[in-house]
Amino acid sequence: MAKIIDGKAISAEIKEELKQKVAQYKNQGIDITLAVVKVGDDPASAVYVRNKEKACAYIGIQSRTLSLPKETTEEELLAVVQKLNEDKTVNGILVQLPLPEHIDENKILLAIDSKKDVDGFHPVNVGKMVIGEPSFLPCTPAGIIEMLRRSNIDIEGKECVIIGRSNIVGKPMAILMLRENATVTITHSRTKNLKNVTAKADILIAAIGKAKFVTADYVKEGAVVIDVGMNRDAEGKLCGDVDFEQVEKKASAITPAPGGVGPMTVTMLLVNCLRSVELQK
Ligand code: GUN
Repeated sequence: MAKIIDGKAISAEIKEELKQKVAQYKNQGIDITLAVVKVGDDPASAVYVRNKEKACAYIGIQSRTLSLPKETTEEELLAVVQKLNEDKTVNGILVQLPLPEHIDENKILLAIDSKKDVDGFHPVNVGKMVIGEPSFLPCTPAGIIEMLRRSNIDIEGKECVIIGRSNIVGKPMAILMLRENATVTITHSRTKNLKNVTAKADILIAAIGKAKFVTADYVKEGAVVIDVGMNRDAEGKLCGDVDFEQVEKKASAITPAPGGVGPMTVTMLLVNCLRSVELQK
């Protein structure tokens, strides 16, 4: 039976540490504010944004949510971002993705002041991450590294295989694993003999977006398995990209979904909000 890596518990521990830091800032007269921009009424985005607001409130960060209608034009959204860039009372800016199809996501992300980019999606921050300069790190991959660290799982020298190559998870995950001295393989929908590749992994990270895709035959005996997915199964129940029941019998450690990576993503956003104050000093 695998050790369960409890993302909720690790997040709670980090949030207590952050709460104290926020209180210290307050004593120095510094208030931290996150602006969240949501366009349209995607139900999943609404849940994510609410979770982010709640987490901010819990540690004492102010959050300001701007909910814009789905008809908002690219120009209008760019103007909103520009205003937030110039607003000295706003430390962090987050534009919730996905955006409606008529808006160019990359154009919007590029418009955010890189010193307020608490998602770590701006090309300047992506570049800094790649060359190892201090920057905002994307929340989900950074949360996974922190989770492994706090679970005393060594990364150095390990074979790490990532399934998925998105800009938000797969690609930055590979860079952060490389920075921790893992040997890294990124796989994706066109990878041949996927099972043969994943079965070599000491650390397997699944970010595919397909319910229970990773079954026991994808996993090496004793591997550490990290599940980034959040899907609904045939019964409409929340589940990850990993078939937990099968894989937990084979893995040495595994994250549940929900209750694994998800809470860590929100917590790393809070870490980045605190970091924004440092970067803007
Ligand atoms: N949509 C799904 N994940 C994320 C995230 O980490 N940040 C933003 N801004 N949008 C998302």
